[in-house]
Amino acid sequence: MSTTKNSKEKKIETKSSASINIENLSGVGPAIAEKLREAGYSSLEALAVASPNEISSITSIGEATIGKIIAAARDSLDIGFESAAELLERRKSMEKFTSGSEQIDAMLGGGVETRTLIEVYGEFRTGKTQIAHQLCVTVQLPREKGGLGAEALYIDAEGTFRPERLLEIVEKYPDLDPKTMLERVVYIRSFNSDHLQLIVDKLPNFLQEHNIKLIVVDSIISHFRSEYIGRGTLADRQQKLNRLLHKLLRLGEAYNLAIYITNQVMAAPGLFFGDPTQPVGGHVLAHASTYRIYLRKSKANKRIARLVDSPCLPETEAVFLINEQGIQDP
Ligand code: GTP
Ligand code: MG
Repeated sequence: MSTTKNSKEKKIETKSSASINIENLSGVGPAIAEKLREAGYSSLEALAVASPNEISSITSIGEATIGKIIAAARDSLDIGFESAAELLERRKSMEKFTSGSEQIDAMLGGGVETRTLIEVYGEFRTGKTQIAHQLCVTVQLPREKGGLGAEALYIDAEGTFRPERLLEIVEKYPDLDPKTMLERVVYIRSFNSDHLQLIVDKLPNFLQEHNIKLIVVDSIISHFRSEYIGRGTLADRQQKLNRLLHKLLRLGEAYNLAIYITNQVMAAPGLFFGDPTQPVGGHVLAHASTYRIYLRKSKANKRIARLVDSPCLPETEAVFLINEQGIQDP
């Protein structure tokens, strides 16, 4: 972390906190520590980003006890109240990497940002999965070439990940050795929404051991869409989706990495003017995403990306091409 001057941040960034035993937290004796470890909560970070009912349901330790342990873990990592000055310092530790498209980078204020959740939605074949592939390569570029010299994690809910495509994309980047590049993309297929949640719950320990700066979830919604049919189950679905998204957001914060999720669209009934497509997932997704990007098709292999929601950037558009080498400027 070159830009970070905040020592509190370093505690999260580096692996130094791994040397602090979870036994050192108040309320954690050897028996509880063992139960926590067995359930996969073996580090302060894993505890800090968890919720009481999540751990309680796996370990059968009471929620109140777990609540105190989580608070202690967050305390020891200095996650909590902070002044605006501290927040500014923390924001400086956000890093950016290139998408490979100058226009998309400019739209995002200089590239894909860590500690941020980017949601990309659009109809089929608009490029959501292609951008995901591209980012898995560009995050690996050396810093002087616009990357973060880091690894990517690809969670595939649709079965559309293609390592061959990464090999085509990497041809444009002579700084990267194709074989090493492939090894630095960690892949996991998710099979249903519970499995997806389980994968995300297990991530803290995994992230502790890897230099991951990008997590892709393609797509965040498909399992939910097929499992929860009919409006009767909508509240339940939204609650689960909410839990998943917030866990991802907290991981992005705690490990200073970017989260890229894709979403599908549905026809918006009763909308006669404008674009009749709306992202699925409703308010839950809208609130969780830091950046929302809407993709649409243009002529041939041209695509238009529109930044529709961002905390501090204007609503702008970017045009890009999808060709043999991935995402390109037109
Ligand atoms: P859905 O997942 O179906 O909703 O679509 P998506 O938005 O994820 O689309 P995706 O990114 O898969 O594809 C976008 C476009 O990229 C399509 O028009 C494809 O034809 C094109 N594309 C996909 N793979 C390749 C490839 O290997 N080479 C080239 N040149 N184009 C590709
Ligand atoms: Mg796709």
